[in-house]
Amino acid sequence: MPKALPMTKKHILFVDDDAEFLQGIQGSLRVVEPSWSTVLTTSAEEALDQLAHVSFDAVVSDHRLVGIDGSSFLEKVQELQPRAMRFIVSGELDREDVIRLAFPAHQCFTKPLDLDLLRRTLRKVTALRDLLSNEVLKRLVSQCSLLPTIPSLYLELTEELKSPHFTIERLEAIISKDPAVAAKILQLVNSSFFGLSRRIEGIGEAISFIGVQIIKALVLTLPVFARFEGVRVKDYSPTAIWEHCWRTAVLARCIAQEEDQPRGVCEEAFLAGLLHDLGKMVLVSNLSSLCRECTALTHRNQAPMHQAEREILGCTHGMVAAYLLGLWGIPDTIVEAVGFHDEPMEAPSSDFNILTAVHVANALDHACSEGTPDHFKQYLDLEYVMALGLPARLEAWQKAGVAAFQRTKQQAS
Ligand SMILES: [Fe+2]
Ligand SMILES: [Fe+2]
Repeated sequence: MPKALPMTKKHILFVDDDAEFLQGIQGSLRVVEPSWSTVLTTSAEEALDQLAHVSFDAVVSDHRLVGIDGSSFLEKVQELQPRAMRFIVSGELDREDVIRLAFPAHQCFTKPLDLDLLRRTLRKVTALRDLLSNEVLKRLVSQCSLLPTIPSLYLELTEELKSPHFTIERLEAIISKDPAVAAKILQLVNSSFFGLSRRIEGIGEAISFIGVQIIKALVLTLPVFARFEGVRVKDYSPTAIWEHCWRTAVLARCIAQEEDQPRGVCEEAFLAGLLHDLGKMVLVSNLSSLCRECTALTHRNQAPMHQAEREILGCTHGMVAAYLLGLWGIPDTIVEAVGFHDEPMEAPSSDFNILTAVHVANALDHACSEGTPDHFKQYLDLEYVMALGLPARLEAWQKAGVAAFQRTKQQAS
């Protein structure tokens, strides 16, 4: 079993002019979540005073406070502590209120407050923050002098896409500034993964066929991986890691499509797959002797690499990559999928999402690469698949994934 990340203590501020309600909450919380540190306030004034002095993970406010409504109060909370999660509790929310509250509140609860739901929500929304503020991880990354930076081409492309007037010609001109990236994109787009009926000759054409988000994913990852081309450490071949990431991306997209996910989710699954083992490259190029110890332990114990990393480094390659991507401002869904790809139970999402797609795709690629696709379940966290209620989907994922994997082999031969 993977070791659980230590849950950091949560500081919660409750605001409600009903003192009896607050006392009830405090009593129940001692039982439900003894490690929470709670501050109870009966007015917005008192709460704002607390917010000026203490840092909170979450603020839970009543819908109507004396002299101010919950929505305006939460706007002030957002100004004072933008990182605090904002929850609103109400006895009688009508539709208009919900629409009005949608912006400042992250989630609305109704009275009587379900503490278990609040606890689960808080754990879910802070899991990523817990990961990124992990002290061992921070210390480890601070020892790395060679950290890839976000490619400028990607930033330029992202900026251009924000404009309502962007054109394919303009995007093509940006990508063509780096001929190595443009050539690699064309090579990948013409691979049999995408099953295009004819050869794509230019970047503009590639964007039209594959979609701008996948091209953007390649613009982000290709220069990052290119930085590691010179790394020569046994079991950490940059080419082998890149090829595994590429296949995982394609398989993850394929699995998301198999679950009828919207196009945007399928594209995010692709990007998360491309980035999922980036942390291995960061670790090996900075801390090669520790990586060799991890490899030795993996072989000795016949255990997965991420477990050896936990033991020797105190964190995993997924966490390292997530930390870096978090610094780059990559969307949380992708950071979460990368960070927890080997330990999905640590991310408390309860539905199929891009983490599921990447976790399954990674397992499938390992099994297929070893020539034993039927054994792919042994690379999976089956407890996680069971918790999602999706074990019946394993067969369909395997079938779709194996077919996609075989297309890659045809391409390679
Ligand atoms: Fe991994
Ligand atoms: Fe992997």
